[in-house]
This record gives sequence, C-alpha cells and structure tokens, in this order.
Amino acid sequence: MSSGRFDGKTIIVTGAAGGIGEGYARGLAEEGANVVVADLNDEAGEKVAADIGGLYVHTDVSDPESAEALAAATVACYGTIHGLVNNAAIYGGMKLDFPITAPWDYYKKSMSVNLDGALAVTRAVYPHMKEGGAIVNQSSTAAYLYSGFYGLAKAGINNLTFQLATELGGNNIRVNAIAPGPTDTEATRTTTPEEMVKDMVKALPLKRFGTSAPAS
Ligand code: NAI
Repeated sequence: MSSGRFDGKTIIVTGAAGGIGEGYARGLAEEGANVVVADLNDEAGEKVAADIGGLYVHTDVSDPESAEALAAATVACYGTIHGLVNNAAIYGGMKLDFPITAPWDYYKKSMSVNLDGALAVTRAVYPHMKEGGAIVNQSSTAAYLYSGFYGLAKAGINNLTFQLATELGGNNIRVNAIAPGPTDTEATRTTTPEEMVKDMVKALPLKRFGTSAPAS
C-alpha cells in the first residue's frame, strides 16, 4: 500500500524507459509522485509513463538543450520540480572496451551521457526547485573496480555528487548518489557475457543479482 510520502511531488527520472529507472519511476508513482519519464526510447518510455499516469518527455541527457526542454515540459505540466533521479546511462548494449583502446568518439559519447548527462540535467532542473529539492545520481559499484571507461564515468558521478551537494546545499537541494551492485536488468543480461555474470554472482555476498522491481 502506498505511504503517500511523495504525494504532490514532481520527480523526473532519466533513463526510465526500462530497467532500474523504470523501477524507480514505478516505485515513485506508487508512493504518490507525479513522475516524468525522460528517455531516448520513445516507445518504451511512453508505455511506462502511460502505465503510471505520468508524463513522457523525449530527452537526450547529453544535450543541454534537450535537458532544458525536459525541465520546461515538466514545469509546464506540473508547475514545479521537487526531485530528479539522474539514472540514464549508456549501459545496455555498451561496447566492452578499455579507455586505452576504445574508439575516441565512442569514449567521448559514453562520458558525455554517463557523466556529463547528470550535470546537464541538473543544470537545467535546479533553477525550478524553488522550494528546495532532492537529486539522486546513479553511480555503481563499478566506480570502485577495474571496469574501464564505464567505471571512470561512475567514479566521476561520485565526485560530481560531492561538488553539486556543496554547491546546491545553500538552495536547500540535497544531492546524493546510489551505487548499486550488479542488478538483474535486460541490459545486464544482454551486455555482460554469461561467464562474466557467473563470476560476478559468485563474488557477491548474497550470491545473487540485485533486482529493480519496486517494493510492494
Ligand atoms: P539500461 O540500459 O536498461 O537503462 C538505461 C536507460 O537509459 C535506457 O532506458 C536508455 O534508453 C536510457 N538512455 C541511454 N542513453 C540516454 C540518453 N542519452 N538520454 C536519455 N536516456 C538515455 O540499464 P540499467 O541496467 O537499467 O541501468 C540503469 C542505471 O543504473 C545506469 O546508470 C547504470 O549505469 C546503472 N547501474 C546498473 C547496474 C546493473 O547491474 N544493471 C548496476 C549499477 C548501476
């Protein structure tokens, strides 16, 4: 049963067309929030938004103009913004390559979405958090492991969280990060080779992946 703790709150979740972001969107909606689903995947994103009675906005988090349009569409629909979950990343289907060898354009694209995207959307959204608010950045345990440029971006997310928390604290905006371990999403199933999955699960204390389903 909903606690209603997010009743009347408007919260944007980026990358909410599937996987963990969809779990956040559904969980927040169940708790009473007006949820804005922001993603590149229109078909899946529109479906999630329709299911939860929220708003879908086509968004490329790596593009500051698109981030501004997301903030404007949210304010036009709900009047203000209380929360932002910077969850979008190039993860599903990503190239498994190394910083030293990955094609430069691909490396830059990955960093522009996985690290700069959180900054671009935060820059666009925070001026609308007039009553204060909360921002959650999606990091990963990959930030603490040898995990290529994906982990490099997540380590950047951790530091960005610290920078933004310090810069925005005076506006009564809290900025935190979550660093989930390996989680059972379609993206993990398609991106990570089976052998690697087995080794990852073996190394986990609970010997199973995390899940992204909202608590019921
Ligand atoms: P996913 O690949 O299913 O979700 C990423 C979402 O972001 C997709 O809906 C995709 O369309 C969207 N997206 C990609 N580029 C975008 C862009 N430029 N603008 C807007 N949306 C964009 O992956 P999953 O597994 O749901 O992961 C979600 C988040 O959690 C990511 O930040 C990932 O790095 C992080 N994470 C995932 C873990 C896992 O094991 N699945 C563990 C720890 C963190």
